[in-house]
Amino acid sequence: MQDVTDLAFMQVIAFYGAPDFFFTEFFRVHSQSRPEKHILRSIDENRTGRPVFAQLIGEDLIHLERTARELLRHPIAGIDLNLGCPAPKVYKKNVGGGLLRDPERIDEILGLLRASVPGLFTVKMRIGFEDTRHFDRILDMINRHGVNLLTVHGRTVKEMYRSDVHYDAIGHAATRVKCPVLANGNVTSANTARRVLDTTGAAGVMIGRHAIRNPWIFRQCREAFAGKTPVVLRLHDVREYVERLYRATFAPDVPEVAHVNKMKKYLNFVGQGVDATGSFLHDMRRTQSEADLFGVCDRHLLANGDVPFALEPYPGVIARPNCETPDSNADGCSLDTITA
Ligand SMILES: Cc1cc2nc3c(=O)[nH]c(=O)nc-3n(C[C@H](O)[C@H](O)[C@H](O)COP(=O)(O)O)c2cc1C
Repeated sequence: MQDVTDLAFMQVIAFYGAPDFFFTEFFRVHSQSRPEKHILRSIDENRTGRPVFAQLIGEDLIHLERTARELLRHPIAGIDLNLGCPAPKVYKKNVGGGLLRDPERIDEILGLLRASVPGLFTVKMRIGFEDTRHFDRILDMINRHGVNLLTVHGRTVKEMYRSDVHYDAIGHAATRVKCPVLANGNVTSANTARRVLDTTGAAGVMIGRHAIRNPWIFRQCREAFAGKTPVVLRLHDVREYVERLYRATFAPDVPEVAHVNKMKKYLNFVGQGVDATGSFLHDMRRTQSEADLFGVCDRHLLANGDVPFALEPYPGVIARPNCETPDSNADGCSLDTITA
């Protein structure tokens, strides 16, 4: 996830129980692009013990090939192509989710990347741009080009992040393509993961926002899949997570208030599991300093330390849709949390 899945975040997640593999934030590909250094760090310095796929977003054939070749010199598990980003600034350039309007171009890109990537080549897609008119055609291309793994986020680009997820469309993809499919979208807990696997027939799930809220989710999935009861965490464990994330993502050259604001991006999700009224979120969003922030954490998380951290997000305590790119704030999409 853009601005989230960096080296520090991956390491914090791995501390609580890593997923089977990670995907980087997307590398932007165009004529002037060079692989972003901070994303390369999440590959070169990955100490999670789990493989990491490098994700590309772009539509220029020459530069996609150049970037793929460059990334293949790094210790990646494979190359992943983004066909899902719904941020208007992105899709208007005909990249990410924008490409779903242009199956011919997707065909060319898949052919080119398949020929350039000797190892694993994977794709992450939504089910369409505004409807599913090209879905089957693109799924057939996934087969024709020998894509090794397909992740399907069960929404159209126009549906952004908040609509219901069309798990039936993910199930359809799982039967139509030859490679394994990962189901993505609103996998909120280990129980949901189990249900989504059962209903879609997918080989696995990809979890995004709910790993920010609950970094124990991968461990809980493993426990649930093994027939065990997933571990229940308490608010004092969440206090420890917040502190660990704060220290891991700290950079000495970043002003304190900027770091506190960065933390709010993660805490908007964490807060969905803290209390049903959203009062942690309300207080957290008003903090301006490290001392304020941890004061709020102490009041809400330590004082109620034995209260269980909800396995599912509380209904009505929601984060606004997000546009997968730092530029997205300019379009009015942000990680700010609202409580209904
Ligand atoms: C902050 C943020 C950044 C994201 N960045 C990316 C990205 O770089 N590449 C990508 O394929 N998906 C990205 N996504 C989309 C997620 O991977 C995922 O498809 C979507 O959030 C739905 O899954 P979830 O309900 O598990 O979060 C991002 C989502 C969020 C919230």
